[in-house]
Amino acid sequence: MPDTLVAGNWKMHGSRAMVRELLGSLSRRAIPRGVEVVVCPPYPYLALAAELLQGSGIVLGAQDLHPEPQGAFTGEVSGSMLRDLGCRYVIVGHSERRQHAQESSERVALKAEAALREQLTPIVCVGESEQQRERGETFGVIGTQLDALTARLGATGTARAVIAYEPVWAIGTGRTATPEQAQEVHAFLRTRLVRLASELAAVRVLYGGSVKADNARQLFGMPDIDGGLIGGASLKADEFAAICDGAEGS
Ligand code: PGA
Repeated sequence: MPDTLVAGNWKMHGSRAMVRELLGSLSRRAIPRGVEVVVCPPYPYLALAAELLQGSGIVLGAQDLHPEPQGAFTGEVSGSMLRDLGCRYVIVGHSERRQHAQESSERVALKAEAALREQLTPIVCVGESEQQRERGETFGVIGTQLDALTARLGATGTARAVIAYEPVWAIGTGRTATPEQAQEVHAFLRTRLVRLASELAAVRVLYGGSVKADNARQLFGMPDIDGGLIGGASLKADEFAAICDGAEGS
């Protein structure tokens, strides 16, 4: 079995002093056995983070990338640049980008493909809004988001990706999905992946949305939850380390 993955999405938070303090503190701790720990700081701090993480075993990731390898795209960052800085993972299709940057599932799939081209592992986010859940559209929405990805990557590419189920109503709200609610969607995703190709049973499916130290172990203990994508709680060393501990043995 691949390691349980715990990835911290710092979003637009941080400063050089904060990066030094947080990563200094995290890198002094032992990484729990069977857990892969990733941090995704904002672009300007990736180089500093790479330096601070040397020898720590903590892996570096980024929060987004442009689908093209280079070109006249002012303000954008390519996968090859991320690779050059030492990133191994990159988040794509976070709901905040789907919402604020109008990213379609097709564009998210192009970004995931660009990541794979650069030997980066894309963490592809899917998730329904509160209204969609209330209208009973959860599986339809998530199925469509996943299908756009698998249509572009095929089984071979999808096997190299990580999926993150992040219900939009649970992100930054403190309203974590119950382990049962999350498991139901994870099982749906797993079934859909396996229907495409049996080897996709091994794709890691993370849960994200108000994961905290006190609910992490229960969530990660569910059969189809292979780790977490952590926002707010990844900015506090003790809290994030406790979440990583909660992934041990799951
Ligand atoms: P949260 O964010 O943990 O602060 O809810 C999760 C995410 O957006 O990835």
